[in-house]
Amino acid sequence: MAIADELQTTIEHMVQAGKGILAADESQPTIAKRFAPIGVESTEENRLAYRALLFTAPGIEDYISGVILFEETLGQNGDDGTPLPEVLARRGIVPGIKVDKGKGPLALSPGDLITYGLDGLAERLRQYKGQGARFAKWREVYSISERNPTPLGISANAEMLARYAAVCQEQGIVPIVEPEVLIDGDHSLARCAEVTEAVQKEIFHALHRHHVALEHMILKPNMVLPGKDHPVRASAEEIAAATLRVFRRTVPVAVPSINFLSGGLSPEEATANLNAMNAGFPHAPWLLSFSYGRALQQTVLQAWQGKAENAIAAQRALLKRARLNGAAQRGEYRAAMEASD
Ligand code: 13P
Repeated sequence: MAIADELQTTIEHMVQAGKGILAADESQPTIAKRFAPIGVESTEENRLAYRALLFTAPGIEDYISGVILFEETLGQNGDDGTPLPEVLARRGIVPGIKVDKGKGPLALSPGDLITYGLDGLAERLRQYKGQGARFAKWREVYSISERNPTPLGISANAEMLARYAAVCQEQGIVPIVEPEVLIDGDHSLARCAEVTEAVQKEIFHALHRHHVALEHMILKPNMVLPGKDHPVRASAEEIAAATLRVFRRTVPVAVPSINFLSGGLSPEEATANLNAMNAGFPHAPWLLSFSYGRALQQTVLQAWQGKAENAIAAQRALLKRARLNGAAQRGEYRAAMEASD
């Protein structure tokens, strides 16, 4: 298949009304942090048990069109020996892979961050594709302070995302472009809007410079929110309006889908905010959906507690959050639905 057709086919499977993406690509330190509160040690066996449970949850294929995996998971097999990416593909769920190697400080630019992992990326992508991955994810992180992100931080991060996206498309892999403006801090919603707008503008300039086909990528941004220590909370409607204002100004309509990250929001907040966008702005030019990690998995981990006998309850918890977020994608979520199983 020609590369453009291959990318288009993957996009069509991933971008569907009422569906979103499950981010299950926690790195080793991050999954250890998620397991710690339920007293589960992060061993290869426990990680496999947990992720196999997620991927085999009955009914999730009605609401989940893609799953982002960590490299280790891409090479693991389920109980019957089937590779986990194939377990997903058989259910009509597109397997993807986190390819960045995490973040660190941007040299000589205090407070700015940069993500590693471009060296050898094309070769790694060829290997991941052979293992079944059809899309990839790369996250750049921006923390807000009085002086950060600096103009240099914003342009350096945009350049990384665009170079990553170009390498992916050259290999027939759909790139998820993830710029995350962090929720940490006491900044206002207006400040988050200002930073997110500057970040998005620079990213689309860079994507253009690097010949990235916008039709064949997915954007995974933060919502526009007040910092978690800001004294004034914002309603879902205020967040939806502020978020859509920024994305209307910056994201070309050629981009098929914006799949938000949950970034530390509670599961209910993440669902309510997405619903407010779809209910309040039904004619947005992109699909507005989710690519949640914590907001889909928090209740699952609580139900599981690392015990095989809790697997079914844990899978039900995942199905519930997937279903509610699927409803939010359609603008049909109501808080009363939280009470049902
Ligand atoms: P959260 O939804 O927990 O922010 O995770 C999404 C993700 O993939 C972060 O890179």
